[in-house]
Amino acid sequence: MKNQLNLNLVELAKKLMVTSVFVILCVIANAQTLRLVAKAKGKFIGSAANSAIFYKDPAIAKDYKNILAKEFNMIVAENEMKMGVLLPSEGNYNWSKADALVAFAEKNNMRLRGHTLVWHNQLPKFISNPITPWTRETLLAEMKNHINAVVGRYKGKVKEWDVVNEALNDPPAKGIRMTSIWAKVIGEDFIDSAFVYAHQADPKADLYYNDYNIEYNFNTKTQSLLSLVKRLKQQHIPIHGVGLQSHSNYNLKDSEIANLSKFVDSLAVLGMKVALTEVDLGIPKGAVNDSTLNVQANSYAKLTQLFMNKSAIKSMVFWGFTDAYTWLEERPKPKEQPLLFDKNLIKKQAYYSVYNTIKN
Ligand code: G3I
Repeated sequence: MKNQLNLNLVELAKKLMVTSVFVILCVIANAQTLRLVAKAKGKFIGSAANSAIFYKDPAIAKDYKNILAKEFNMIVAENEMKMGVLLPSEGNYNWSKADALVAFAEKNNMRLRGHTLVWHNQLPKFISNPITPWTRETLLAEMKNHINAVVGRYKGKVKEWDVVNEALNDPPAKGIRMTSIWAKVIGEDFIDSAFVYAHQADPKADLYYNDYNIEYNFNTKTQSLLSLVKRLKQQHIPIHGVGLQSHSNYNLKDSEIANLSKFVDSLAVLGMKVALTEVDLGIPKGAVNDSTLNVQANSYAKLTQLFMNKSAIKSMVFWGFTDAYTWLEERPKPKEQPLLFDKNLIKKQAYYSVYNTIKN
C-alpha cells in the first residue's frame, strides 16, 4: 500500500516536472519571436503570404497578418508576383495584390523575395497559348518587357528574385525541361537572357535560380543544376544564388540532411548564395497524430540546425506558416499539417523546434 502510494507520488512528480518544463519552454519562446532570434544570428526567416487570406477575409486576416509581421523578417508572395497573376491578359498589368504585399513588407521591415519572373506554370493564356505563334525573337522581347516591368516597378524594394523557376527536368531525365514554352520557343539559353534582363532592370538585386527535388538526394537533377550554374558562371551571366525549395516529408532522414549539407557546400564553392525557399514537411493524409507531429518537429530541428550551421544559407522561408492554408492539401496525393502553426494559428511543436534551434 505504502509502496503503491510512493510509486503514484513519483509518477505525479514526474508528470509535474515534464509539464513545468513544457510551460517554461513555452513562456521563454513566447517572450521572443522567430524573427528576433534569427536576426540576432544574422539570418532571415520567412514565410510565403497567401492572397486568399491576406486580402479577402477580414475576420482572420488580422491575426494572420499579426503573426506574419511578428514572427518573420522575410516575405514572399505565394502567387501574386507570378506572370499569370500580374499580367492576366496582354498589356494589362494588375499590380494591386503585389503592391499591397510590398507595402506590408515595407511597413513591417521585412525583406522581400520576388517569386517568380520566368516559369512554365501559372502563365497567362496569351503566352502559353498564343493566337500568333511565338518566335524566338518575339518571345524573348515579351520576356524582356515583363522582366523590365516587374523588376523595374519593385527596384530597390524586392531585394532578391527567383529569376527562373523549375527549368530542369525531373529525374531520371537530365538537362533542361524542353516542354516549357520558354525552352521550346527560345532554346535553353532563355535562362541566360532572363538573368541578363533582370540584372539590367535592377543591378543591385540578388538573382536566384530556384528548383525542387535537387536538394535531399543526389540525382540527375542535382547534376544538371550544378552543370547549369557552372555554365552560367563561365559565361559571366549574373546569377548570385540558388533557391532550394526544400519541400519534403515530415520524417526527413539523416542521409537526406547529409546530402543537403554536401550540396550546399558544392554550391558555395561555386560562389552561390543559397536560400531554402519553400520549406514544408507534410504528413500523409490521415496519418497525423502525436507521434508523427513529434517526428515532424525533430525533422524541423535538423533542417534548422543545418540552416544555422551554413554561412552560405542566408534565409529559410516556409511555404506558408499555418496548416489552415497549404498547397499540399490540393495535390493528387495530399499531405497535411506541414507548417509551424496549426489550423487555429496556435504554435505547434514544430514551431518550438525551429525557435529553440535558432536560439541555441
Ligand atoms: O486564383 C484562382 C481563382 O480565381 C480560382 O477560382 C481558383 C479555382 O481553382 O484558382 C485560383 O488559382 C489557384 C492559385 O493557386 C491561387 O490560389 C490555382 O488554381 C492553383 O493552381 C494555384 O496553386 C499554386 C501553385 O503554385 C500553382 O502551381 C499554389 O497556391 C502555390 O502554393 C504553388 O506554389 C509553387 C511555387 O510557386 C513553386 N514551387 C512549387 C510550389 C508548390 O506547388
